Amino acid sequence: MPTAFETLRHEALSCTACKLAGLGRTQVVFGMGDPEAPLMFVGEGPGAEEDRQGLPFVGRSGKLLDQLLEEELGVTRDRVYIANVVKCRPPGNRDPQPDEIAACRPYLERQIDLIRPQVVVTLGKFAAQLLLDTTEGVTRLRGRAFPFRDGVLIPTLHPAYALRGGGTPLAQMRADLVRAKQALAERGIVLS
Ligand code: URA
Repeated sequence: MPTAFETLRHEALSCTACKLAGLGRTQVVFGMGDPEAPLMFVGEGPGAEEDRQGLPFVGRSGKLLDQLLEEELGVTRDRVYIANVVKCRPPGNRDPQPDEIAACRPYLERQIDLIRPQVVVTLGKFAAQLLLDTTEGVTRLRGRAFPFRDGVLIPTLHPAYALRGGGTPLAQMRADLVRAKQALAERGIVLS
């Protein structure tokens, strides 16, 4: 018997709920990692490399995410779960549009329902604004932990922004990951 999570993944892989399905996606990027992880990351949407490999955060942003996971949390990506707001690549790496985000939202909500992470870290504005139901900018949202479902949501910057912005955004991302580690520790969870 496939798990509910596997069933959801299979459903997503052939999704045609929005126009991204017909705008040159190679494959649906559902997510990767441990579907029982206490820590989940939510990014924006697949880029070219993610679309090619069918995996989230495998390009330059992903390299930085892997490095920060290792340095601040002491784990590799298989110990967490990584997903995106939209599961298909927007053409030319444009921002996902409101109708695309709305069409894809049930997949993300179901992923969160099934994983039940204690801590969700959002990467960039789209995930933070969607899950916190706000229009506040991410630079104002970050630096705090918000109550979210059974745990907390910790907004941080998108790694692509840190790659462009250098020292300050990178230091802010590190601080947010330390916050995530503390939130897990407060719940008796030590990632390893
Ligand atoms: N940027 C994202 O937001 N998600 C990815 O999967 C890759 C890059």
